Amino acid sequence: MRGADRPILSEVRAAERSAGDEPLRAPSGTHDILPPESAVFEGVVARFASRARLAGYGLALTPLFEELAVFSRGVGSSTDVVTKEMYDFVDKGGRHLALRPEVTASVARAYVQHRPTLPWRVWYWGPQFRYERPQAGRYRQFWQLGAEVLGTGDPDLDVEVIELAWTFCEGERIPGLSLALNSLGDGACRPAYRERLLAFLEPLAAQLCPEHQTRYRDNPLRVLDCKRPACRDATAAAPTPLEALCPSCRTHFARVQEGLASLGIPAVVTPRLVRGLDYYTRTTFEITASALSASQDAVGGGGRYDGLVAALGGPETPGIGFSLGLDRLLLARGDDAPAPEAGLEAFVVDLTGGGAALVLTSRLRRAGVAVERAFDSRSLRAQLRMADRSGAAVALIIGPAERAAGEVRLHPLRGGEESVVAIEEVEGALRALDGAGERPRRTGNEEQA
Ligand code: HAM
Repeated sequence: MRGADRPILSEVRAAERSAGDEPLRAPSGTHDILPPESAVFEGVVARFASRARLAGYGLALTPLFEELAVFSRGVGSSTDVVTKEMYDFVDKGGRHLALRPEVTASVARAYVQHRPTLPWRVWYWGPQFRYERPQAGRYRQFWQLGAEVLGTGDPDLDVEVIELAWTFCEGERIPGLSLALNSLGDGACRPAYRERLLAFLEPLAAQLCPEHQTRYRDNPLRVLDCKRPACRDATAAAPTPLEALCPSCRTHFARVQEGLASLGIPAVVTPRLVRGLDYYTRTTFEITASALSASQDAVGGGGRYDGLVAALGGPETPGIGFSLGLDRLLLARGDDAPAPEAGLEAFVVDLTGGGAALVLTSRLRRAGVAVERAFDSRSLRAQLRMADRSGAAVALIIGPAERAAGEVRLHPLRGGEESVVAIEEVEGALRALDGAGERPRRTGNEEQA
């Protein structure tokens, strides 16, 4: 579609003409994550990275957009995610692409493409895109942290993966956490269950919510998960996937429950838990937090997807994983959540015109010291005020006298005696202060300069 750039160009010109002084805003359903909150975000990602590394996961960074087929074949062509919420577009080369609504299908596509050795464990974080009705905790661009393991169907792995998701959320001090667990069966038992459910729904179709009256045949399991009262009431006595498990799915599910119990993880078997993505087989789970509003209280979810790799053209390869919604994790965190890493250690106050600060901040940063400085040759008072607000423990003051003597004044900002040190000994002096516990521990909620 090479001609497609022409209308875009004319739209750009029209936008330029009509823009006037109207300030631009982030698109509806997206939000900026800026300092100081971004430090909290960064901390959550860093802690997840280190937990994942301990469990043998490597980082997978897949493209933010993929061929549409990755999601229509992977996630399912009858899911809301694909039919209603996908940001899809035809690029200038005529390829039908989509911004990723989730990462699991991309990870499976990457496996099929690169065939790494199994079992393959990867973790990821990044933005996802779904055209949903924006509200608190539900966005059109949102962030996920997640982990996937391909290559074994062992139920111990289900337990391990659920444990990682659960203990991570616990460690982030999310109050009111619950873990819902279910099994959706597999290729041996699900088709028969689907027929049974359809037979149950058929005579009740007129009582379902307007959407499911027309769509229940495409994906009858979704009706079980519908939150609207009409569907809730009509399906109160519907058969659940659990009742229809074949012997091997039943054994698998029992092993998962035993494993979780042996680790003290309080899973609640929830027979109507049906997730919104079609690739799931056997184990599915969702973690909710009471601090979030009921319509979007899931901080994360996941499950097994033993048919996904084959659906994307690879060999039969079992897999399981989960994703946590980072935006929701941040909304749901309690007051005692882990604090972000310490911020600035020192703030350089330069009264000689700025050249000394340029050299000293560069040297300290190369030595691994977190340091800031003022610009624009401001007054001592103004620079000290900035230093104070920056959260640093120490101002490093260089006036003309200090510069001439090759010295720096160490001015503690949170109490303590001022001292003078040779400029080449500043790192050592800061380290000594740090060891004496005078380095600041900032919380993400403190005001920044
Ligand atoms: P999901 O349940 O669609 O699963 O999303 C996982 C989490 O992402 C949700 O529990 C929620 O916290 C967050 N989330 C989803 N949509 C939004 C939104 N519009 N705004 C804010 N947060 C949102 C998956 O994406 C699967 N890939 C999980 C998985 C991994 N299954 C197996 N492996």
